[in-house]
Parts: sequence; structure tokens; C-alpha cells
Amino acid sequence: MYVALFLLLQTVLGANILHIAPVGAGSHHIWNRALAFGLMNKGHNITMLSHSAEKEKFKNFHIILLEDYFDKALELFTADSVQTNKFLDVKAVYDFSLFSCDHDLATQGLKTLMNYPRDFKFDLIIIDITIEQCLYPLIERFKNPPVVAVTPFLLPPVLSHLFGNPLQAAYMPYYNTKHTDRMSFLERITNFFLIHFEILYRKYIGIPAESKLAKKHFGENIQSFDEVEKNISILISNYDPILSFPLALPPNIIPAGGLHIEPVKPLPNDLKTIVDNAKEGLIIFTLGSYLRSDQMSISKRTAILNAFAKLPQTIFWKFESEIDDLPKNVIVRKWLPQNDILGSPKTKLLITHGGALSTQEAMYHGIPVIAIPFNTDQHSNAGKLASRNMAKILNYEDITTDSFYSAITEILNNPMYSRNIKQLSQRYKDRPEHPLKKAVFWVEYVLRHGSANFLNLASRDMDTYQAASYDVILALLMGLYLLYSLISFIFTSCKFMYLRVYP
Ligand SMILES: *[C@@H]1O[C@H](CO)[C@@H](O)[C@H](O)[C@H]1NC(C)=O
Ligand SMILES: *[C@@H]1O[C@H](CO)[C@@H](O)[C@H](O)[C@H]1NC(C)=O
Repeated sequence: MYVALFLLLQTVLGANILHIAPVGAGSHHIWNRALAFGLMNKGHNITMLSHSAEKEKFKNFHIILLEDYFDKALELFTADSVQTNKFLDVKAVYDFSLFSCDHDLATQGLKTLMNYPRDFKFDLIIIDITIEQCLYPLIERFKNPPVVAVTPFLLPPVLSHLFGNPLQAAYMPYYNTKHTDRMSFLERITNFFLIHFEILYRKYIGIPAESKLAKKHFGENIQSFDEVEKNISILISNYDPILSFPLALPPNIIPAGGLHIEPVKPLPNDLKTIVDNAKEGLIIFTLGSYLRSDQMSISKRTAILNAFAKLPQTIFWKFESEIDDLPKNVIVRKWLPQNDILGSPKTKLLITHGGALSTQEAMYHGIPVIAIPFNTDQHSNAGKLASRNMAKILNYEDITTDSFYSAITEILNNPMYSRNIKQLSQRYKDRPEHPLKKAVFWVEYVLRHGSANFLNLASRDMDTYQAASYDVILALLMGLYLLYSLISFIFTSCKFMYLRVYP
């Protein structure tokens, strides 16, 4: 028996893993890369398909670059052109996916992977399934090894549902709303519609469109996407019950929220000097990897700079070009080591677009937030913090010197915000193991056992209407209606006979 266990462990040492991480967003790359590094450090060999290049070379981490993506993609989004309709916002995600597929399927990078020797063996495939289902045929190309799905996009209801999770529409706020887990009746109606809208949109429009593109590229005979999805073992998600709202999860969804957050590293010398000299503390302002601060309208930029100029704090602004006449206390950089600055005891506030990774880092370090959400999950990330009094939300359209300045001073002068988020930080850090360790464990678990379909809830094999008992509710309502019709028929007949007998 020990020998068997030993052999089982042997096969797991140094597995060859293909990590398909095509979602075109810097944050997705950061999260996937953190997971890949966790696996590399356990001796596995990772080949990652990604849009982001790597400066350094590693022995067991190889990027196959889906080249030239960001030049095209970044043009699609600017701070001043953002979708505000919630339903169109859902559609926009699927359109974005098709746009990315169109690009990726034509890349040299994908050709490189497809041209691997026919008998080249990957022991396991990890795939970021948030979008770009068009790459599913890669799984078949490498002979259907066990597959682990991941999503850095917290836990979108549609993906959790794909793994058999009940919908929890009454208390699982949809990602592009500011709802909390305690919704009013009207909010629950919106939430219900948004969740079901996406499930139907994905099933009848999103997936068929992806599949059509894939067939054009990989051939008509590819495995059906339904089958491929049913066969994925587990979903490792960037969800955490403390960073997000508590939810029920089936055993095949592994919550590993915040796995990307690394220990704080010393700052580069130039930044260290600035931080050391910041007597009144620090503020960080960044809109993440997608929205370029330098594409904001000049009037917004001026309003923001005027507000900063009135403050005694030192402000780091992630800004992609130069600014003339910068106030003395504002430092702009194209790139900032955000996690390391957040870890400084001098940091008092993070001003952010409300991306999942940034807000998680703020919660980890206990730094209060001003969120300026633009699209998708940024709304719920912002809403979650604001409803717990750890943040204030500002609408981008409403930014003026006064509104910006007063939001900042409110957070800096009212200790409630900082106290609340520091308490959450302590609760999050109090845990049996680091989420990265947990995620690595579960990847190796699937390697050892070949699959994890024995963890599935039976609902994973049901249609939505069956899993949610809509058919039962409908049958009951119809039964009630029949009963009502029968009773009123008897009643009218009796009345009729009574009137006949006693006119
Ligand atoms: C590790 O991955 C690289 C890149 O895919 C591949 O060329 C190499 O053969 C792999 N090494 C092993 C030992 O499988
Ligand atoms: C499902 O996964 C198993 C185990 O990895 C594999 O043997 C099988 O071929 C896969 N089937 C399909 C339809 O992908």
C-alpha cells in the first residue's frame, strides 16, 4: 500500500503542465503567473500561453506569447467611453472575448504551440475559463489530459453555475452591480434577471459564437464545448469568503482568493527615498493595467491635480506619460510596485478603479479605498468595500476638484474607514494555509487522481431549470391553478343549480 502511495506521489513530481491563460488583462496574467510560480517551485514544468511577455528566463516556466495583443486591445477602452447599461455590459464581455479570440487564433504563438510534436505529452492542463472558450480545442490537441479551470475574476455566477453550484441569486450579488449580499426586493429582481440573462446569453449566443470561430480554425470535428466543460475537474477561483461575501460552494470549487498577494519586498532606491521623506503619509492612485490615466480628459486631469495640490500627503500616480506643472507632492510613474507601497506603514489611502486584485491587496494590507468603478466587477468590488465602510465610491463623471478633495479628506480624517479595513485584514490573514498553497495542492490532487468528477454535485449534470427546481415550481403553480379552476367550476355549478331550484 505504501508502495502504491509512493508511486502515486512519484508521478506528481515534476509534471509537465500547459497553462492556457489567454484573458487579455494584466491582472489575469498576474494571478495566473502567481499560480504558475507556485507550481514551478514544487518542481513542475509550466508552459504558459499568455499575452504578457516575461523579461527574465526561468528553467521551468516558459511563456508562449500570443503576440501584439495589447497594442490593439488597449485602444478599445478609455476612461471617458464606458458602458453604463448593465445588460450591455454583460454583452460587452462576450464581444471582448470574440475580439480576443479573433486575434489569438491568428497568432504565431498559437501556431508554435500547435506545432509541438504530435506525441508531446502534457500531464495536465490549467485553463483560465473566464472568457475565450475558443481555445478549448487545445485540450483535445494534447489528448485530453486532466483539466483544471481557474478564474481570477472572483467567482462569476455563470462559472460557479457551470460547476454545479446552485444560483444563490437572492444573496450572490451580480458582479457588475453595487449590490451587497443583503438586497432589497427590487435589487433581488435585478440580480435574478442579470444572472439568468448571462446564463442564457452564454448558452445560446456566447458559446455558439466561440465554437463557430473555433471550428473555422481547428476544423469542424472538434469536441463539443459542452462535453469539454463537463469534463473539467475543478474550478480554482479568486474568491474568498472574507474578502467577498460568504457563499455556499460545492466541493469542486476551490476558493483561493488573494493567492497572488506576495510578501512585501523592499522598494527600489528612488521610491524608497520618496517614501522615507513623506512625513504626512502616502496616497496611491492607479486605474489598473487597462485604463490609461493619460487618456482621461484634460478637465478631469486638472480637477484631480488641483485636489492633490491641496493635500499635505505625497501622492504616487500611475500615469503613462509625462505631466507638465506637476504639484510638488505628486509623483507620476508608468508603473508602481503597488503591493509593496501598500505594505508601507506610511500608506493611508488607495485610489483605484476597483479592480479585483487591487481591492484584494488593499484589504490584505488594511488600506482604505476610494473607488472609481468603470465596468464589470469593479462595481461590485467597490460596492462591497463601501457597504462595509472601508471605502467611498466616486463616479468618474462626478469628479471635480471639490468632490475629489472632500472624498479624500473624509477618508483620511475619519478613522472608521481605516479601522474597519484593518480589522478585515486581520481576519483574512488568520487562516490555516496560504491560498496559493491550497491552489497548488488541488492542482496536484487532480494530477494524482486523474480527475475529480466524484466531487461534483449532481446538479452539474442537470439543466438550470431542473437544478433550480423551476420545473417543480411551475408544476405546483399549474396544479394550484387547476385546483382553483375546479373549485370555481363546482362553485358556479352549485350556484347555478341552486338558482334553478329556488329561482
Ligand atoms: C518543459 O516545457 C518546455 C516548453 O513547453 C518544453 O520544451 C520542455 O520539453 C518541457 N520539459 C519537460 C521535462 O517536459
Ligand atoms: C475527459 O477526461 C478524461 C480524463 O482526463 C479523459 O480520459 C477523457 O478523454 C475526457 N473526455 C472528453 C470528452 O474530453
